[in-house]
Amino acid sequence: MPQPHVVVVPFPGSGNINPALQLAQALRHHGVFVTFVATEHNLRRAQQAAATEGAVSGREGFRIETIPDGLVDADRDQQDYDLGLSKATTHGQCTAPLRELVARLRGGATPDVPPVTCVLPTALMSFALEVARELGVPSMVLWTSSAAALMCHMRLRELRERGYLPLKDDSCLTNGYLETTIIDWIPGMPPISLGDVSSFVRTTDPDDFGLWFGDTESNNCTKAGALIINTFDALEPDVLAALRAEYPRIYTVGPLGSLLRRHHDEEDDAGGGSLDLSLWKHDTECLAWLDAQAPGSVVYANFGSLTVVTTAQLAEFAWGLAETGRPFLWVIREDIVAGVVSGSAAALPPAFQAETATRGRVAMWCPQERVLRHRAVGCFLTHNGWNSTCECLAAGVPMVCWPVFADQFTVCEYACEVWGVGRRLDAEVRREQVAAHVGEVMESVEVRRSAARWKAVAEEAAGAGGSSHENLLGVVEALGVSSLNSE
Ligand code: UDX
Repeated sequence: MPQPHVVVVPFPGSGNINPALQLAQALRHHGVFVTFVATEHNLRRAQQAAATEGAVSGREGFRIETIPDGLVDADRDQQDYDLGLSKATTHGQCTAPLRELVARLRGGATPDVPPVTCVLPTALMSFALEVARELGVPSMVLWTSSAAALMCHMRLRELRERGYLPLKDDSCLTNGYLETTIIDWIPGMPPISLGDVSSFVRTTDPDDFGLWFGDTESNNCTKAGALIINTFDALEPDVLAALRAEYPRIYTVGPLGSLLRRHHDEEDDAGGGSLDLSLWKHDTECLAWLDAQAPGSVVYANFGSLTVVTTAQLAEFAWGLAETGRPFLWVIREDIVAGVVSGSAAALPPAFQAETATRGRVAMWCPQERVLRHRAVGCFLTHNGWNSTCECLAAGVPMVCWPVFADQFTVCEYACEVWGVGRRLDAEVRREQVAAHVGEVMESVEVRRSAARWKAVAEEAAGAGGSSHENLLGVVEALGVSSLNSE
């Protein structure tokens, strides 16, 4: 049987590139040939950010190819860059280049490259499923958030049909309607407030792009031959059962970072070195700083690759961290505050910088999984992006949650109310609440015990014989037999 060859096509943001790269590496480890498709812009960024040249180059059984992202430079400087990317991919700007690439690789005319047997985009990349269908190549899709978030986004359509969406008028955004309207009919899910279904419900516009995109892209996942989710069975059993009842070809393979760790060690030993397509340069010196801190003492704050805050919110978080009296590592992306050209850390109150200079460390981007697994870290102040949440669960660290966008509200609700590992901050950031919640999760025996328990369950899922490990082998087998018919 020829070697299976999968073309992995992530949505061009860190929240999708990172898990797609992890999955791609895990598949390669099990003998699958991988072509990883980056955008030209992102590959340039990753090369500039890389610690070593080898980190972003192809290697045996793993090639990197590029397609354009459909944007011009001026679009990339916008705060809604992510939205711009979503529109560009939706409007077909990436379709022809991907079609040409897959067609070229499909035929097996490239020396030392086996013919393509599967196209595997992440969520938000329906056009890639369409390309696979047109070319008659089987497909799988990687949903990069939780199973509950997938179920919620799939139900945006029904929420619209039942008259919940779009919202009747702007008052619904602020009068408590989103919090007090309880949706208790989503299969496999506990009752959830309308506001926690998704950020995309926050609209009065029937033609809102985000609402349409969330609905369409989540439901389009079921058009793939199989659906891979970066979660694990024991974490979301009810909602996974409900999803599997609707669509049986689901492989849960998370936490992908845990699944990969063992492979990495082996490959580093064999001289392969780690692949890294980070779009920002990692500040690895913060690890040495963590080494000097007491176990479980540090508050780690990081809001991912997309969150934008105001100067006032940044100041409330700053003073909240100061009020905890604890050491902290705070990652402040240079563009996290809109309009601050000199880098967002410059927007921190000078008095805060002076007061916390000896116990706080600010970085621009860090190797997050290593930070979360560091013994000094005792709390994660997070926006509940799914990767961050999954990495945090795998590391057994309690969290303080401040959801902002898309799936983060659903993830926060599960973290706090279902998994018992976090406390949610109000949307309006207040320093007293930041400090109080940090203190509470770090001191609560109950929260720490839950966090430790989920770490153990995650390890079991990703270990030999665990559900995620077995499901990964199932994906490899399915790729080998090539029986995945897209709709
Ligand atoms: C987005 C969405 O916000 C998220 O809700 C969705 O599930 C995926 O896409 P993002 O906001 O960037 O992603 O958050 P997250 O999902 O947490 O992904 C961030 C990734 O970047 C993680 O893998 C994290 O480890 C990595 N990261 C982040 C770093 O390596 N270093 C950092 O300093 C910050």
